[in-house]
Order: sequence, then structure tokens, then C-alpha cells
Amino acid sequence: MKMNTLLVGLLTSVTLVMGTAQAAELSMVSGDTGTGLEFLRGQLDKFEADTGNTVTIVPMPSSTSDQFGQYRLWLAAGNADIDVYQTDVIWAPQLAEQFLDLTDAAKDVVGEHFPSIIESQTVDGRLVAMPAFTDAPALYYRKDLLEKHNKTVPTTWDEMTATAQEIMDAERAAGAADMYGFVFQGNAYEGLTCDALEWVVSNGGGQIVEADGTISINNPQAAAAIDRAASWIGTISPEGNLAYQEEESRGVWQLGNAVFMRNWPYAYQLGNGDDSAVKGLFDVAPLPKGDGEGARSAATLGGWNVAVSKYSPDPEEAIKLAMYLSSSEVQKERAIMQSNLPTIVALYDDADVAAAQPIIPSWKEVFLNAVPRPSAPTKVKYNEVSSLFWSAVHETLSGNGSAAENLEVLEADLTELKGEGW
Ligand code: GLC
Repeated sequence: MKMNTLLVGLLTSVTLVMGTAQAAELSMVSGDTGTGLEFLRGQLDKFEADTGNTVTIVPMPSSTSDQFGQYRLWLAAGNADIDVYQTDVIWAPQLAEQFLDLTDAAKDVVGEHFPSIIESQTVDGRLVAMPAFTDAPALYYRKDLLEKHNKTVPTTWDEMTATAQEIMDAERAAGAADMYGFVFQGNAYEGLTCDALEWVVSNGGGQIVEADGTISINNPQAAAAIDRAASWIGTISPEGNLAYQEEESRGVWQLGNAVFMRNWPYAYQLGNGDDSAVKGLFDVAPLPKGDGEGARSAATLGGWNVAVSKYSPDPEEAIKLAMYLSSSEVQKERAIMQSNLPTIVALYDDADVAAAQPIIPSWKEVFLNAVPRPSAPTKVKYNEVSSLFWSAVHETLSGNGSAAENLEVLEADLTELKGEGW
């Protein structure tokens, strides 16, 4: 009898100990735009209910450059407080060594994703992050204003510039004092690298650093593309655009104060929200192209992933979380609620997704043809390469030197960086 009581007591405490061991307290770090963090919280609540784990979000600023700076420090210091990171598509080669290899955990589902995206997150044969969504930008345009002023959707940057100016002037003359022609990401950060890469590629000016490591940015077509963008500041774009990231551009656009906007698909759902002045009044088109040889519409490839820190004290549960957040179930909800582009091929043929967010099926081709930033060829030096590039562009947009002058200096700086090895 006594023995039995003891045994039951012992078993109960073993179960309790096991119970606590199984329920992990995880931390996930993420910045985002729009309602991204609210959406994430909703998904984490479901994960908590399913697994008994708890997950705390450590919120970050929405600038990917700010996030990267912080994460690089934490990971270098072996921070064990953060288990899971939401990571930008460009970071994989730089942070790979600090993340766990998910190849094994993902073996049954990896085939559901676009192979190019899996490849972008695979470094030296290790799958260092699971894709959560992909990204490729659009030219957002006001259907109502184009119609009213008898204009078509522009397919070249020159046409976009002329249409933006004409409609802006006419609308201002009619009393819309705050109307602008075009808003984009002009702040000195990674977002400007994305926008400016599009201007350059669309003008036949190359990809900054080519896949084989050649530094190609100092060329007349690239310079012309950046000079064209500089001409927008203070004409069709507000001076303040020099400080805009995604959310500031969307702010102006959603108040109804811009004819055109360059932004990622997340702005589609939000623009159609009940509190948006442009609800039902806009549509999206591929970005315009430039002129000259090789001109074409170009979209920079973006996207976000989920990586597990190798310093996580609960790697098994953290991996479960990464697998969950990249799953078809979560990606479908993300597509419907956030208008983020899935990385799972089948979701582009999903009727619910197409009905809720028509941009998604029509953006498959845009994202499949999107241009990667040169993070693969420049490896651990990508952030420095990008920051030198966005600085040169930002100087030009600010009127400090012509694009040709600034690109010459950039070429010299990149050559020096390459000389140190990348
Ligand atoms: C978007 C893209 C990301 C990019 C960022 C730049 O979030 O998905 O890849 O780096 O914009 O601001």
C-alpha cells in the first residue's frame, strides 16, 4: 500500500517533469509591415493551442536593414533568448552558420515549394530557413484617376513620369492640394536597393554585381536610370520621399494622395481595407520598363523565411514552429488575409486565394521572373555592397552629385571590398 502510494507519487512527478519539459517557452523575433505582426500573433495562438508551447514575439522595426544589424549582433554573441528568426531572403548566405539545418525536418514538404526559393535558402547544402512568403513589387495605379484624365496604364518610366505629372497638376488645380504623382521607397536602406535595382535592370543597366562576381554598376544605362529617378524628387514625388520606407509610401497612397505607388503585394489587401481612401479605386500592373538596349520590366525578388537559431535551448520545438509557419495551411491564410505571395506552388491555383486576392495568381509570373539582389555572389559582404549602393543612389536622389559621378565612386568602393574577398 505504502509502496503503491510512493510509486503513484513518483510517477506523477515524472509526468509533471516531462510535461514541463515538453511545453517550451519560445521567442520569435520579427519585424513586419502593415498588420504582419498581428497576423503572426494569430498563427502563434493556434500553434500554442496545438502544441502546448508558448511563443512570445519580440517585435522589431520594419526596416530590414535595422533588423539585420541587430540580428547579426545577437547571433554573433550566441544569444540563447531568441529561438526563431523571421529572415529576409537576402540574409541566408550571411547568417547561415548561426542557423540550424532544416533539411531533415523539411524532407516531406520541401517539394511543395518553388525550387528557386528553397535554393535561395540553401547554403553549402544546408537548408537554413523555411520560406514563409515570397515578394515581388507592383506598380499600384489609381484606376479612377487614369480614367478621369483619359490615360492608359504606363509601361515605360518616361510614360509614367509624364502621366503622373499631368494628373497631379490637373488634380491640384482642381483643389487636391496634397496630390502627388508617384511614391516609392527612397530612404537610405535596403528598400532603396530594391527600387533602384529595378530602375537599373529595367534600363538594361545590369544587376550591380553580376552572378559571376563582375562589378557592372558603373555604366551609362544605370546612370541614366538613377538620374531619371532623381528628377522625380520635388516634381512628381514629394521631397519627403527621400525618407520613405514601404509604410510611409503606403500612408500617402492610402490617403488618396498619389496617382502611382511602387510597393510589395502586402499593400493590396490594406489598400482595399475599410479605412482606406483608395478602396476599390486601384489596380496593379508590372513596373514600367526603361529605354535602350535590354530594357524590360523588372521586379526585385523579395521574401521572408523562418530560421531556427543554433543557440535555441529548445531546438525541436523551435523547428516545429518553423515548419508550422511555412506550412500550406498558414501560407493559405497569409495569402488570403495579408495578400502575401505564397512559396507553395499549388496555392497559385487555389480558388479561395484567387477569389480573395486576385493579385496573387496574376503575380506568379512576375515573381518567377524577378531579379535577385546580388547576395549570392557577394556572400558575407552583401550588406556592405547593398549599403554602398543605396548610399550612392540616395546621394544622387538628394542632388549631391550626378549618378555618373556617384557610380564611379561606388565602383571603386566595390572593387576595394571585393579585393578584401567576398
Ligand atoms: C520587402 C521584401 C524584402 C526586402 C524589403 C526591403 O520586405 O520582401 O526582401 O528586403 O522589402 O525593404
